Amino acid sequence: MKPREIRRYILTDHAFLRHMLDELDQQAFRVLEGREDELSALRECGLSFHAKFAEHLAFEDRFLAPALRAAGGAGVEHAKHLAEDHREQRELLNYILSDLSDRSRPARVVADELRSLVELILDDMAHEEIGIINGSVLRDPDLRPRPPHTVSNSTPTTGP
Ligand SMILES: [Fe+2]
Ligand SMILES: [Fe+2]
Repeated sequence: MKPREIRRYILTDHAFLRHMLDELDQQAFRVLEGREDELSALRECGLSFHAKFAEHLAFEDRFLAPALRAAGGAGVEHAKHLAEDHREQRELLNYILSDLSDRSRPARVVADELRSLVELILDDMAHEEIGIINGSVLRDPDLRPRPPHTVSNSTPTTGP
């Protein structure tokens, strides 16, 4: 996979994940409003998000991390940050998974924790896009600004 394809795939995945997070947040909000009958739907939303996000992390580990390392320089640093972020996110996901399967936990606590998860993951994705995905490492050379000495193919303009 070329860097630009990896970048496009990840951005599409992020858009889908944001959509899932929005649904999860709305579902958690319903439970917090006192609609405890919505708790099982919230659990389902949480589990779907868990599965999709685990898949997303696996994709980034398999394709993004090697592409960053192969780029060298800043890419190597980005790959280290990526590995650290993913380690923390997996810990968080494991915690959420145990939270969702623990039937003894009060609905409000589960809903509160899921809303915090939504905020954290949204924040992480935004940072990942700014710091890694939209950085120069994954962009094709033809997408980078041309150096000033590049000869243009257009007809030269004549002076006044
Ligand atoms: Fe990531
Ligand atoms: Fe990501």
